[in-house]
Amino acid sequence: MGQHNKVRKAVLPVAGLGTRFLPATKVVPKEMLPVVDKPIIQYVVDEAIEAGIEHFVFVTGRNKHVIEDYFDIQYELESTLKARNKNAELSLLANMLPTAGTATFTRQQEPHGLGHAVWCAREIVGPEPFALILPDMVMEAEKPCLKGMMEVYEVAGGNVISVEECDPELAHKYGIVGIGDAVGNGFKITEMVEKPEKGTAPSNYFINGRYILQPEIFPILAETQRGAGNEIQLTDGMLELAQKQDFYGYKFDGQTFDCGSKEGFILANVALALKRDDIRPKVENELKALIAALK
Ligand code: G1P
Repeated sequence: MGQHNKVRKAVLPVAGLGTRFLPATKVVPKEMLPVVDKPIIQYVVDEAIEAGIEHFVFVTGRNKHVIEDYFDIQYELESTLKARNKNAELSLLANMLPTAGTATFTRQQEPHGLGHAVWCAREIVGPEPFALILPDMVMEAEKPCLKGMMEVYEVAGGNVISVEECDPELAHKYGIVGIGDAVGNGFKITEMVEKPEKGTAPSNYFINGRYILQPEIFPILAETQRGAGNEIQLTDGMLELAQKQDFYGYKFDGQTFDCGSKEGFILANVALALKRDDIRPKVENELKALIAALK
């Protein structure tokens, strides 16, 4: 414990256009769409804070400035709330405000892929390990995913990737890893492939959007050629780094909602509403009635 450099920073790539959610995302970034009563981005920031992250690096794009506004003070709103004695709402807003100087925003000027988005954070991250969180993936678990990964990192060091099982029929949609020997709470990753051709995946464990990476990934990403989907793929960069450094996997134990898809987004709303004591009774009954009416 403790011999590995601390993971203090998290990179959140939020430059995507959200074309699957048009017209909802025409003026509102997809990361700001609400799941119950919080924007998607707040869930992943909360997960990172629980894992000890101190600094957030948002890789944004044009049209995404409301994400920056969201993590700032809203004077007009707050003075109105104060005048109306809305103290619960005021403290809610105060609690989610990052300490000044702990959120940094940089733009990915052109959409060249996830590997390129991560590379855009290199100057802000500097020479230290960092967490990478794909905000589309909203996770619900007793132990937050990134926290579990930190435990693997504390024992093993190196690079850590979170994975979970998928229907083998869907393996071609994700990055897939090969499973090696157990190491602490994790395992050694033996191979990685981005969006394997059907029938060629080394396992059905897919990369579910959480990474702890060493800074040596940055110079590699600067040189990584376009891969799957004609984009600069993070997985290709990681494959090269894996020739010099160890990669470990963490099997996430919980529920993941891919809010990049309509189905995942709807399910996140339903599942997280059902976990809320203030919302569950009404929603549960009405959902049952809606489903019964389908038959
Ligand atoms: C990215 C990664 C992929 C991972 C996926 C998880 O793909 O490249 O390895 O499995 O996120 O959502 P994308 O969803 O950007 O196609």
